[in-house]
Amino acid sequence: MKKQIVSEFRNPFRPGAGHQPPYLAGRTYEISEFQNLLGQDIVSSNMVITGLRGVGKTVLLESLRPLAKQKNWLWVGTDCSESVSVDEQTMAVRILTDIALITSGIKIKETVLRGLGFNSDNSKKTEFMDFDFLAKQYSSIPGLPSDKLKTILLFVWKHISTQEGLQGIVFAYDEAQTLSDHAEDKQYPLALLLDLFQFLQKNSVRFLLVLTGLPMLLSRLIETRTYTERMFRVLVLEQLSKSECRDAILKPIEDTNCPVKFDTHSVDTIASLSGGYPYFIQFICREVYDVFAQQLASKQKLFVPVDAIIQKLDNDFFAGRWSRATDREKELLTIIAQNNLQDFGIMQVVELSQQSRYKAFSKSQLSQMLKRLIASGLVYKNRRGAYSFAVPLLEQYINRTQKFTEV
Ligand SMILES: Nc1ncnc2c1ncn2[C@@H]1O[C@H](COP(=O)(O)OP(=O)(O)O)[C@@H](O)[C@H]1O
Ligand SMILES: [Mg+2]
Repeated sequence: MKKQIVSEFRNPFRPGAGHQPPYLAGRTYEISEFQNLLGQDIVSSNMVITGLRGVGKTVLLESLRPLAKQKNWLWVGTDCSESVSVDEQTMAVRILTDIALITSGIKIKETVLRGLGFNSDNSKKTEFMDFDFLAKQYSSIPGLPSDKLKTILLFVWKHISTQEGLQGIVFAYDEAQTLSDHAEDKQYPLALLLDLFQFLQKNSVRFLLVLTGLPMLLSRLIETRTYTERMFRVLVLEQLSKSECRDAILKPIEDTNCPVKFDTHSVDTIASLSGGYPYFIQFICREVYDVFAQQLASKQKLFVPVDAIIQKLDNDFFAGRWSRATDREKELLTIIAQNNLQDFGIMQVVELSQQSRYKAFSKSQLSQMLKRLIASGLVYKNRRGAYSFAVPLLEQYINRTQKFTEV
């Protein structure tokens, strides 16, 4: 009987982009800030959540959804990385698609439509506010995409806000750094989104915008519209604290049916290997859990195989990202890692390269290379104009692997 229970308890850890963890550790400050925003009398503050890949933006965003529902807010949104190119038209269609998900059951009388100057199918007495209907109105309204959207969303809000108890609608866009504008094609999808929400909120429409994305999202927002500094509460997700790490590691295996237990020493080892980064915690815990289960079955002493886990992490997580860099870029990244720079400026690296074993970099070479490294997701530029690694713990990976390949 006992054996059966043991085999039923599955490894609970979930490394993987957007996979809900068995226990969401920490993030209490972010959650309470979000709740404050839901409580605004007039919606004027929105939220931006940024942080490195794997720090937990997507799963935090998902965990805000039920909180919004509890407070009678509706929730719509998408993962913006899923569409190949974002121009104003696709942005407008996306917003209409999102809103249609919650309005498609709403009936509106034909007389109301005509009174508002909206297009109406005369053969019908009532119409549903579904996507087809919204798209039809969108194309019949003259003007720029932003004017069309403003008119439609004001209209939608007028109807939906009569629902009893309704507090508002949260629009949640994950990976929002991909929405940046393309001035070269005269396309400004991010500006469209920001102007739209600014306008609607000024007109007392209770739409709350929540954007999450990689750290460059912040500078992109400010470059797009300077007023965004006043429009958003900005939260930067960081590593988990020591006690939050403990929770992330131990809470999922607290269940009495769980055959595997981690002792304090193992917990400390996992926490320190992970650097407090949630993705690494899930990854390492999943490995340790499996290893412990095997060691238990073969009655061995339990130990965390640190080297094997690091090797696996290097192969599964870092190697693919590292291989995106050219040889010269790898030299540049190695200089930064070896000098333990949290963030760096171009001149600083020019000087360090002159003292390094590599061929020195010129200023113009470096700025070209950094542009490419940003595009390949290895580096980002922060608000102060300094550069940092965009991949957590990349410096440790470089320092442990590059010493073997150097002459
Ligand atoms: N607060 C947390 N506690 C425990 N695990 C977490 C936490 N936040 C994220 N994770 C785990 O980390 C991994 C990465 O999370 P994700 O939300 O995809 O990161 P991001 O969107 O920032 O790239 C997932 O496996 C997730 O389960
Ligand atoms: Mg994500």
